[in-house]
Amino acid sequence: MKNYSILTGITPSGSGEVHIGNYVGMVMPFFEMAKNANKVYYFIADLHALTTVQNKEELQRNVENLVLSYFAFGVDPKKVIFYRQSDILLHTELQSILNNVTPLGLIKRCHAYKDKLQKGYDSEKVNMGLFNYPILMAADILMYDPDYIPVGEDQRQHVEITRDIADYFNKTYGETFKLPQVYNVKETARLIGTDGKRKMSKSLNNYISVFASEEVIKQQIMGCFTDPKRIHPTDPGRVEGNPIFIYHDLINDNKKEVEDLKKRYRLGTVGDVEVKEKLFKAHLKKFAVSRKRYQELKKSPAKIRQILKQGAEQAREQAIKKMMVVRGKIGLTNKYSFFKY
Ligand code: TRP
Repeated sequence: MKNYSILTGITPSGSGEVHIGNYVGMVMPFFEMAKNANKVYYFIADLHALTTVQNKEELQRNVENLVLSYFAFGVDPKKVIFYRQSDILLHTELQSILNNVTPLGLIKRCHAYKDKLQKGYDSEKVNMGLFNYPILMAADILMYDPDYIPVGEDQRQHVEITRDIADYFNKTYGETFKLPQVYNVKETARLIGTDGKRKMSKSLNNYISVFASEEVIKQQIMGCFTDPKRIHPTDPGRVEGNPIFIYHDLINDNKKEVEDLKKRYRLGTVGDVEVKEKLFKAHLKKFAVSRKRYQELKKSPAKIRQILKQGAEQAREQAIKKMMVVRGKIGLTNKYSFFKY
């Protein structure tokens, strides 16, 4: 695959605090994909977050955490067009237009909405933002004609709906939008949590943070579940499926050390504490550069603002081109038109 463009967004509905599960499941695949793409759009879907986050400080904090994290990991603003959805008003304008070619039934089938109903929500009370969520997402995507949308399995349906909406529009008004394809981020990328039971997630508090203070990270690692059958450090332990070794494999770049620890664990000649302490050291080493950059960036909001401004300008330029075409196709422009963005 060469010469393709990709676009993806992230909703700042969680705290925005990045954990090592996000790192392997989202951050790494994104950087991997972005390496070979010739155009990359990445945005913070802050308007989407409004469907669930209805507290000013919370939204502000989530967005800040996400932006700082991505730049700390080294998003190259020369290569990636990085912006906030709310900085580009054309997304909502396109959503308004797409509303008119989107059948109600299509949106009623969406899981974001259906999940809510299943959880016992009254369909009359689900907010319209949540119901319309897939149409805004279609606008986010179709605006830029990307080839691939790297998303997790839970977002696949939304990209399929985007294709349907593009198709309805193209059939009504003529070829206008490119139909995007899902680039599926591997499900194996889902990392087990420190409870050893469920997927790593902030809401379950079974995670290891990337950017938290050293004390917090140490606590998270020391509290990690290991082999429940192993009572004494002299008992032979199980390495396979043991979260602490899964994390070692992922973030400890000293492979010799990992092999040695595994060997001794199997033999019963190493204690959990040593294995965990070595993981803690490996974590600090692996993320040293990013963690330092995170703290530096946090102190220079003007720098972040400049990058976001530049990203928004580049995205806007593209969006304006597209919207002028759309306005023309649907008949909003005629001999009396003077409108300019
Ligand atoms: N709904 C996506 C999520 O929650 C975020 C998102 C919004 C998105 N618009 C998008 C992803 C467009 C890809 C493309 O993860």
